[in-house]
Amino acid sequence: MKPRKQHVVLLWMLICSGLTEGIEPISTSIAVGMAAALTGFLASYPNILYYFHECCRPEWISFNKTGLQKDLDSKLFGQHIASRIVLKAVNGFMNNDNPKKPLVLSLHGWTGTGKNFVSKLIAENIYKEGMDSSFVHVFTSELHFPHASEIETYKSQLQQWIKGNVTNCAHSMFIFDEMDKMHPGLIDSIKPYLDYYDKLDGVSYRKAMFIFLSNAGGESIIQTALDFWRDGRDRNEIELHDLETALSLSVFNNKKSGLWHTSLIDKNLVDFFVPFLPLEYKHVVQCAMAEMEARGFDPDKDVADQVAKDVIYFPKTERVFSVKGCKTIESKLDYYI
Ligand SMILES: Nc1ncnc2c1ncn2[C@@H]1O[C@H](COP(=O)(O)OP(=O)(O)OP(=O)(O)O)[C@@H](O)[C@H]1O
Ligand SMILES: *[C@@H]1O[C@H](CO)[C@@H](O)[C@H](O)[C@H]1NC(C)=O
Ligand SMILES: *[C@@H]1O[C@H](CO)[C@@H](O)[C@H](O)[C@H]1NC(C)=O
Ligand SMILES: [Mg+2]
Repeated sequence: MKPRKQHVVLLWMLICSGLTEGIEPISTSIAVGMAAALTGFLASYPNILYYFHECCRPEWISFNKTGLQKDLDSKLFGQHIASRIVLKAVNGFMNNDNPKKPLVLSLHGWTGTGKNFVSKLIAENIYKEGMDSSFVHVFTSELHFPHASEIETYKSQLQQWIKGNVTNCAHSMFIFDEMDKMHPGLIDSIKPYLDYYDKLDGVSYRKAMFIFLSNAGGESIIQTALDFWRDGRDRNEIELHDLETALSLSVFNNKKSGLWHTSLIDKNLVDFFVPFLPLEYKHVVQCAMAEMEARGFDPDKDVADQVAKDVIYFPKTERVFSVKGCKTIESKLDYYI
């Protein structure tokens, strides 16, 4: 027996909207009646759960700290600083029932170092559906806001989207990719949502999460990593404070990047700047091994070495860091297996 569409929608509305909790003060008898109807309904349609859409409830949205820690430790290579900050920031925020403002993370670093990858790991450990969740929204400047001339349209559209989505679900996540290519006006238009407001137009944004991804500051992070390497110091000794000055200077002084024209930084709307270090040969090997495993092969160190040897490194003389990080490993691997 197939459940009829309107029944499914009705049941979904009942459960998703939290109506079953809301009615308690009104009348218990209604609740009991509804519960009985629900039980009867579930009995006649045992497969009903398959038809459920994701909804904004703890069954679908709950933070798994162990899961995130495990993922960061085992899947993310060469990013000890980013890993630590992200775990601390997300854990603190998700365990706070009454955050004063939304969580705003700004991820910086060279290409292919794992910025999108980390946002994916975060999403997967909060939303059952991961990046496919209807509460996770990714905006790319070139895809969503390509024409500078239509900036006014984009602004109001983006504000409506954020407002609409947060109204639907307080625990919404917004990822802005290529933040450095984003029009400054567009960034200005989302500023109010990042701030310490109790409510804006009756909507509270304080449980939402914003993640900005950019290459801004990538070069100065590389410079610091290179200095450590040249001094023969261990990469793992690099601390956040070694990068902070370099990051803020390059980020503030970069007149080309929209992010910094706006007062995102001086208004302290960004809670955490997360630096991503450039990846070395051994990390490329790790990425290749992980990719083989993901494809169901036995990871082969020789193959991984082949792949890593085929990658281009810089600076030209010392050849320490992978030009494209781990970005092209996936396709390169096709040649070798
Ligand atoms: N540090 C890392 N650890 C493990 N895998 C990584 C790492 N960095 C990159 N990768 C792999 O490379 C792929 C591409 O990385 P990702 O898209 O996260 O780069 P990015 O930092 O967003 O680069 P860009 O600035 O060019 O957007 C990821 O899907 C992942 O498989
Ligand atoms: C959290 O993640 C761990 C490790 O991946 C997993 O074993 C566990 O089942 C997860 N917990 C929940 C509640 O999903
Ligand atoms: C939520 O955001 C998406 C873009 O990710 C948009 O298409 C959709 O219309 C928004 N929903 C609401 C209710 O505004
Ligand atoms: Mg990226």
